[in-house]
Amino acid sequence: MKPQLIVALDVDSFAQAKKLVDKLYPYVKIFKVGSQLFTACGLKVVDYVNKKGAKVFLDLKFHDIPNTVGNAVASAARLGVFMLTVHAQGGVEMLKAARVAAQRSAKQARVSRPIIVAVTVLTSQMFENLHQRVLDLADDAYTAGLDGVVASVEEAGDIRKVFKKDFVIITPGIRPQGSQAADQKRVATPGAAIRSGSDFLVVGRPIVEAEDQLAAAKQILKEMK
Ligand code: C5P
Repeated sequence: MKPQLIVALDVDSFAQAKKLVDKLYPYVKIFKVGSQLFTACGLKVVDYVNKKGAKVFLDLKFHDIPNTVGNAVASAARLGVFMLTVHAQGGVEMLKAARVAAQRSAKQARVSRPIIVAVTVLTSQMFENLHQRVLDLADDAYTAGLDGVVASVEEAGDIRKVFKKDFVIITPGIRPQGSQAADQKRVATPGAAIRSGSDFLVVGRPIVEAEDQLAAAKQILKEMK
């Protein structure tokens, strides 16, 4: 599968999200709904993206006791989202609970099971031994039978070397050449992300805050080729 672009709908109203989706689809086919937008308008945006024919990446980064995360993942799976996130730091038991719940719930709701990926270390963080910590968390996700991880481009190369080809790698912190890093510490260009073995590139502000959002998305898609 060719690497794909995911645009983070990091806006605070349904109206703004709808405008972005209408502008970018079908050039962009996957939209990330995170805590900002989900807290503002919940299911409405998930339904809208799904009905449009695009896919939802529900990025709520679940992190709690296994039972609670399992129940949250079960609810998310029923929404028919394409992919969702849990925090790898929650431990193997929690990650397993997420996998089991997704399978069961999707089957009951007769929808496809969402791809479950574990967030390793946020791309806004930087600390000693971070690289090894990311690899250890990726190992937990793999052991728990999850589909992949979210990691920065700096770790993606090593994750790709260690784990099987179909272990999905999602890289945020993508910045086209010459743009602002903002609060992201471990950033990389779309080309570097692809070379590192990333399957999905998550881009927020470089597109959302661009004057011409479609042009910004097309530029990144071009850099991904
Ligand atoms: O605006 P920017 O391109 O930095 O947005 C990146 C998006 O990816 C944000 O929605 C952020 O929540 C998300 N993300 C991240 N680092 C992670 C996981 C998700 O930046 N490790």
